Amino acid sequence: MKSADSVIRLFVCTAQKDEVGKDVAKALKIELKKQGLKKLLTGGSTRKVRVQTCNCLDLCKQCKKGPGAALIIHPEGTVYGNVRPRDAADIVHEHLGEGRVVERLRLD
Ligand code: FES
Repeated sequence: MKSADSVIRLFVCTAQKDEVGKDVAKALKIELKKQGLKKLLTGGSTRKVRVQTCNCLDLCKQCKKGPGAALIIHPEGTVYGNVRPRDAADIVHEHLGEGRVVERLRLD
Protein backbone atom coordinates (compact mmCIF):
# COMPACT_ATOMS: atom_id res chain seq x y z
CA MET A 1 0.00 0.00 0.00
CA LYS A 2 1.23 3.49 -0.85
CA SER A 3 1.81 5.86 2.00
CA ALA A 4 -0.03 9.18 1.89
CA ASP A 5 3.36 10.84 2.20
CA SER A 6 4.35 9.63 -1.24
CA VAL A 7 2.24 12.48 -2.61
CA ILE A 8 3.18 16.13 -2.28
CA ARG A 9 0.06 18.27 -2.29
CA LEU A 10 -0.16 21.96 -2.98
CA PHE A 11 -3.36 23.25 -1.40
CA VAL A 12 -4.33 26.59 -2.93
CA CYS A 13 -6.97 28.78 -1.29
CA THR A 14 -9.64 29.98 -3.72
CA ALA A 15 -11.73 31.93 -1.22
CA GLN A 16 -10.63 35.38 -2.41
CA LYS A 17 -13.26 37.68 -3.88
CA ASP A 18 -11.72 37.45 -7.34
CA GLU A 19 -10.82 33.77 -6.89
CA VAL A 20 -7.26 34.39 -8.03
CA GLY A 21 -6.40 31.08 -6.38
CA LYS A 22 -8.06 29.25 -9.25
CA ASP A 23 -5.68 30.90 -11.70
CA VAL A 24 -2.74 30.17 -9.39
CA ALA A 25 -3.70 26.48 -9.27
CA LYS A 26 -4.04 26.39 -13.04
CA ALA A 27 -0.66 28.05 -13.48
CA LEU A 28 0.98 25.61 -11.06
CA LYS A 29 -0.40 22.64 -13.00
CA ILE A 30 0.86 24.09 -16.27
CA GLU A 31 4.32 24.68 -14.78
CA LEU A 32 4.54 21.18 -13.30
CA LYS A 33 3.89 19.77 -16.74
CA LYS A 34 6.18 22.22 -18.53
CA GLN A 35 9.07 21.64 -16.12
CA GLY A 36 8.52 17.87 -16.06
CA LEU A 37 8.00 17.84 -12.28
CA LYS A 38 4.66 16.10 -11.92
CA LYS A 39 6.72 13.32 -10.38
CA LEU A 40 9.70 14.05 -8.17
CA LEU A 41 12.59 11.76 -7.48
CA THR A 42 13.61 12.36 -3.87
CA GLY A 43 15.88 10.18 -1.79
CA GLY A 44 15.50 7.27 -4.17
CA SER A 45 11.71 7.27 -4.20
CA THR A 46 9.25 8.83 -6.59
CA ARG A 47 6.67 11.26 -5.28
CA LYS A 48 3.73 12.56 -7.23
CA VAL A 49 2.87 16.23 -7.01
CA ARG A 50 -0.77 17.24 -6.94
CA VAL A 51 -2.32 20.69 -6.99
CA GLN A 52 -5.63 21.01 -5.19
CA THR A 53 -7.89 23.97 -4.66
CA CYS A 54 -9.49 24.43 -1.28
CA ASN A 55 -11.41 26.86 0.80
CA CYS A 56 -9.98 29.20 3.42
CA LEU A 57 -6.69 28.05 4.95
CA ASP A 58 -7.07 30.45 7.86
CA LEU A 59 -4.43 32.74 6.38
CA CYS A 60 -7.05 35.22 5.21
CA LYS A 61 -5.05 38.31 5.96
CA GLN A 62 -2.89 37.27 3.04
CA CYS A 63 -5.75 36.58 0.68
CA LYS A 64 -7.63 39.73 1.54
CA LYS A 65 -4.82 42.22 1.71
CA GLY A 66 -2.94 41.44 -1.47
CA PRO A 67 -3.78 40.44 -5.01
CA GLY A 68 -2.62 36.86 -4.51
CA ALA A 69 -3.60 33.59 -2.87
CA ALA A 70 -2.29 31.62 0.10
CA LEU A 71 -1.06 28.08 -0.37
CA ILE A 72 0.33 25.30 1.76
CA ILE A 73 2.71 22.58 0.64
CA HIS A 74 1.78 19.34 2.36
CA PRO A 75 3.13 17.35 4.16
CA GLU A 76 6.17 19.54 4.81
CA GLY A 77 4.03 22.53 5.79
CA THR A 78 5.66 25.46 4.00
CA VAL A 79 3.16 28.29 3.68
CA TYR A 80 3.24 30.87 0.90
CA GLY A 81 1.18 34.03 0.69
CA ASN A 82 0.19 36.58 -1.91
CA VAL A 83 0.96 34.08 -4.65
CA ARG A 84 0.00 35.19 -8.13
CA PRO A 85 -0.13 33.10 -11.27
CA ARG A 86 3.19 34.55 -12.39
CA ASP A 87 4.83 33.12 -9.23
CA ALA A 88 3.95 29.55 -10.19
CA ALA A 89 7.12 29.03 -12.23
CA ASP A 90 9.36 29.95 -9.25
CA ILE A 91 7.47 27.77 -6.79
CA VAL A 92 7.70 24.78 -9.10
CA HIS A 93 11.29 25.38 -10.15
CA GLU A 94 12.85 26.50 -6.86
CA HIS A 95 10.76 24.74 -4.25
CA LEU A 96 9.85 21.48 -5.94
CA GLY A 97 12.69 21.20 -8.41
CA GLU A 98 15.58 22.44 -6.29
CA GLY A 99 14.25 22.03 -2.76
CA ARG A 100 14.72 25.72 -1.89
CA VAL A 101 12.00 27.78 -0.24
CA VAL A 102 10.97 30.83 -2.28
CA GLU A 103 11.71 33.35 0.47
CA ARG A 104 9.93 36.35 -1.08
CA LEU A 105 6.60 34.51 -0.86
CA ARG A 106 7.07 32.64 2.38
CA LEU A 107 4.81 33.31 5.35
CA ASP A 108 5.72 32.49 8.94
S1 FES B 1 -9.40 33.45 2.37
FE1 FES B 1 -7.56 32.47 1.70
S2 FES B 1 -6.77 31.67 3.52
FE2 FES B 1 -8.65 32.50 4.17
